[in-house]
Amino acid sequence: MEKLLLVLLSIFFFPQFILHTQASKDEYYSRPPARNVIFTPHHGSDSEAQQVHVSLVGRDHMRVTWITDDKQAPSIVEYGKQPGKYNAKATGDHTSYRYFFYSSGKIHHVKIGPLEPGTIYYYRCGGSGPELSLKTPPATFPLEFVVVGDLGQTEWTNATLAHVQSHYYDLFLLPGDLSYADTSQPLWDSFGRLVEPYASQRPWMVTEGNHEIETFPIIEPEGFKAYNARWRMPYEESNSSSNLYYSFNVVGTHVIMLGSYTDFEDDSDQYKWLEADLGSIDRKTTPWVFVLLHAPWYNTNSAHRGEGESMRKAMEELLYKARVDVVFAGHVHAYERFTRIYDNEADPCGPMYITIGDGGNREGLALTFDNPASPLSLYREPSFGHGRLRIMDEARAHWSWHRNNDSDSFSADEVWFNSLSTSTACWAIVDEKVPPLNDEL
Ligand SMILES: *[C@@H]1O[C@H](CO)[C@@H](O)[C@H](O)[C@H]1NC(C)=O
Ligand SMILES: *[C@@H]1O[C@H](CO)[C@@H](O)[C@H](O)[C@H]1NC(C)=O
Ligand SMILES: *[C@@H]1O[C@H](CO)[C@@H](O)[C@H](O)[C@H]1NC(C)=O
Ligand SMILES: [Fe+2]
Repeated sequence: MEKLLLVLLSIFFFPQFILHTQASKDEYYSRPPARNVIFTPHHGSDSEAQQVHVSLVGRDHMRVTWITDDKQAPSIVEYGKQPGKYNAKATGDHTSYRYFFYSSGKIHHVKIGPLEPGTIYYYRCGGSGPELSLKTPPATFPLEFVVVGDLGQTEWTNATLAHVQSHYYDLFLLPGDLSYADTSQPLWDSFGRLVEPYASQRPWMVTEGNHEIETFPIIEPEGFKAYNARWRMPYEESNSSSNLYYSFNVVGTHVIMLGSYTDFEDDSDQYKWLEADLGSIDRKTTPWVFVLLHAPWYNTNSAHRGEGESMRKAMEELLYKARVDVVFAGHVHAYERFTRIYDNEADPCGPMYITIGDGGNREGLALTFDNPASPLSLYREPSFGHGRLRIMDEARAHWSWHRNNDSDSFSADEVWFNSLSTSTACWAIVDEKVPPLNDEL
């Protein structure tokens, strides 16, 4: 059965292996091509929890999500601060879905807490099976995010995840394109198993990309069926009416997850929600504000040019006036870091823009950038890798990008920057019509 599935998968993905011959000319580093898809099977019993991942829910709770093939398996999580000693227990709910002839397992969602900050909890899903552990985010800075989009499930994905795990971090942020199942639902299960060793240990906060849509004429008109069932994020807690956009606070940061593939015009729910959400941020208690979305608003790669433009036009002013610190995007399978921008011009009060769609998916790299480079674009490179955002304190942060160099990881780009909450000049002009300041970055 599994062999047959593999054969079918390879046929389905054949075109990916014949692309990627063009190397970039002006770089000494020769770009590795896409690598094979890994299918990760389940070896346990039908009632054993698989595909476990955790996400933040509110200030001191987490949601544990897992899947069982057994429809009778209970939605309970036992947990505690010592291995094997579970002095707390929570019960949650469950869902499942059908997609053509595919019928998902039982998808369990259980909220646990209150949890103490910066603490390791040992837990077990469904009342039996192996023990897992997770670490809650700290109570105070420093705080370290890993950021990587367009992850997929190839041998490169595996390498990226191993590099992520090899250094400390608190939270994983994914700006869209998770499994690349592309309607082949068993690949969602395979992806869940591939990421479980990582996503069961640290909160994974995700937003959707185009590969999550999976609509099909007449039969699946709505889209996001698998994504919404499997990757439920804390949208109700941030007053959003949709799992496709939400926000959360962690330590002194406010993180906003936007949806590139749902309505964003100024009469849309998402727009109104974003306006209210930005308006509710207190920069004294949450000095940092980050936004993640899938299709980049600024992009000098020839891939996906202009795809984020209508969303930029609709929402950029909201983010600018709120003094958002950084906007992260995926979609383009490369790394690119821009200066602070507002409306296509360098502006010291606008967000920095970073494209980090380089997790390692089966489609390979987006190799061609504009030549010469736009002066707004400060660093760009078509390689697989991951980013790290380390918030040192209320004012200072360090961003670094780590290229996958074969099985090693190599730090190729880095920048220190200040929170816009610390700039009196930027707040003084908030309601005026944008005369760019002459401060440096
Ligand atoms: C994936 O990575 C893990 C740990 O880094 C390794 O043990 C495993 O062999 C890798 N799998 C594949 C298919 O490359
Ligand atoms: C959500 O809305 C309610 C009522 O309008 C409000 O009291 C609450 O503070 C809001 N929560 C967030 C996280 O914005
Ligand atoms: C990649 O790794 C090789 C072998 O370890 C090393 O010689 C090379 O300098 C590295 N290159 C980059 C760009 O990281
Ligand atoms: Fe994408």
